[in-house]
Amino acid sequence: MQKIVIAIDGFSSTGKSTVAKLLAKELGYIYVDTGAMYRAVTYFALQNKWIDNSDISKEDLISKLDDINITFKFNKDLGFAEVYLNDQNIESEIRTLKVSQHVSHIAEISEVRRKLVQQQQLMGKDKGIVMDGRDIATVVFPDAELKIFMTASAETRATRRYKELLERGHNLSYDEVLQNVITRDEIDSTREDSPLVKADDAIEFDNSAMTIEEQLEAIRQLVEEKLA
Ligand code: DC
Repeated sequence: MQKIVIAIDGFSSTGKSTVAKLLAKELGYIYVDTGAMYRAVTYFALQNKWIDNSDISKEDLISKLDDINITFKFNKDLGFAEVYLNDQNIESEIRTLKVSQHVSHIAEISEVRRKLVQQQQLMGKDKGIVMDGRDIATVVFPDAELKIFMTASAETRATRRYKELLERGHNLSYDEVLQNVITRDEIDSTREDSPLVKADDAIEFDNSAMTIEEQLEAIRQLVEEKLA
């Protein structure tokens, strides 16, 4: 059966990964959360104390990029792949507010992007992949057969993210989460290298008022059309 590449881009906390994960499972495709890769690099930089408030020791990080090995391993119990940094499972460590507060600045560094984009392109070389991020349809797979651009209001996204973080046991306020969502969107959309923009041929979804099942159904139809 013919396989395609499905690229899902959009603002932070638009629920891209939830939909992408379920879609990949239904189709028997690989799912890759590229945000987790930028978060893994951020975690690595934090561990090495190369981030001090808003100051990043870029030279140190760039000189050690070859020491960063990011992999995904499928967890049967959870039903999705978890991210590993040099063989250490860091799935929970990368979801903290601290990592969220620095990741957009790490993602501005061209050398970091080059390394991760190369790995992402390799992962999708045989197609049959659903990849979500900010530059998937524009830079990683400009020839992807199906491109989705997800949006939702900042408040809707912050509410979703806040609930998710509380469920994971993080102690923080809604306002901190909202501020983080707004700041990251601003940095991600205005950076020089591969900013978050909707690809001309991407289909836009404002999912503020859509359930996950409604989003999935809409994307399912688009996939069927592409495969027909
Ligand atoms: O999807 P996320 O919120 O986990 O992504 C974390 C950050 O990583 C996001 O603020 C911007 C960056 N990112 C990126 O620059 N390019 C991607 N393809 C994915 C994420």
